[in-house]
Amino acid sequence: MSISINHVSYVYDSETELKWKALDDINVAITKFKMTAIIGKTGCGKTTLMQHLNALLKPTSGEVIIDDFVLTKTSKHHTLKPLRKKVGLVFQFSESQLFEETVFKDIAFGPKNYGATDEETAIKVHQAMQLVGLDESYIHRSCFQLSGGEKRRVAIAGILALDPEILILDEPTAGLDPQGSIEMMQLLLNLKNHHNKTIIVVTHDNDLVYTYFDDVILMDQGKVIAQNNVLDFFEDNQAVVLPQVIQFKQLLLKKGVHISKYARTIKEVLEEIKNDRIR
Ligand SMILES: Nc1ncnc2c1ncn2[C@@H]1O[C@H](COP(=O)(O)OP(=O)(O)O)[C@@H](O)[C@H]1O
Ligand SMILES: [Mg+2]
Repeated sequence: MSISINHVSYVYDSETELKWKALDDINVAITKFKMTAIIGKTGCGKTTLMQHLNALLKPTSGEVIIDDFVLTKTSKHHTLKPLRKKVGLVFQFSESQLFEETVFKDIAFGPKNYGATDEETAIKVHQAMQLVGLDESYIHRSCFQLSGGEKRRVAIAGILALDPEILILDEPTAGLDPQGSIEMMQLLLNLKNHHNKTIIVVTHDNDLVYTYFDDVILMDQGKVIAQNNVLDFFEDNQAVVLPQVIQFKQLLLKKGVHISKYARTIKEVLEEIKNDRIR
């Protein structure tokens, strides 16, 4: 079972003179049960690509294969429901899409829509709130009284309440402070490590990518130009904005201190230095 994108191109406004090829013959395989980052400059096609993974967009040509589901230009609307259930998509600034009066109602919207009973819905809402770290005291609060970070958690809980196997998030740390970003990463790591979720994240933050992710896909002008595991990716792609930890390791190297590629946080770098001293 796998996720693969084969020769996918996507043209916006294909019927008009404005037509614009946002994806250009993309070929990429994404490993399940890992955390994969999609990075690249603004406008390179990251959001367009992720919207293909739950059929919000259908490829102009090529195919998206997710387990036994094959999405092509001709896929019929009524066949998409199983895919939409399997793949949960969290939009950028998802908190702006909350619309129900209370946290409970907002998270309950999805399961109800999929036909869950009141009892099943209540269980799903509680489970989803737990997964995003919102305690019971939030349940009847108004979404509009929450902080930005809390609202974003409610929006993610709304998707998790549908129990997707694959969770895709577009810039989930945009606008969060550093502590909020770390908490978001820990939330996603927990979903991967303890709840068997496959996590795919569009992000601009290479520091977070280096510390928390398994794999990286680099896009440029509608194409995938590199894909690798995080450690090898940043060794091979020195042209991207390097994570601060790597910059620190390069400074240390100039001073004659070699740190292995496995140290992915400042703490791990310092531990290697300490262990070397002891040895
Ligand atoms: N709805 C749309 N209509 C027309 N062009 C679009 C639309 N959405 C995105 N594009 C264009 O497609 C390209 C890729 O956009 P997008 O996937 O949003 O990139 P990214 O998420 O990497 O910033 C950009 O050139 C963008 O202007
Ligand atoms: Mg985008």
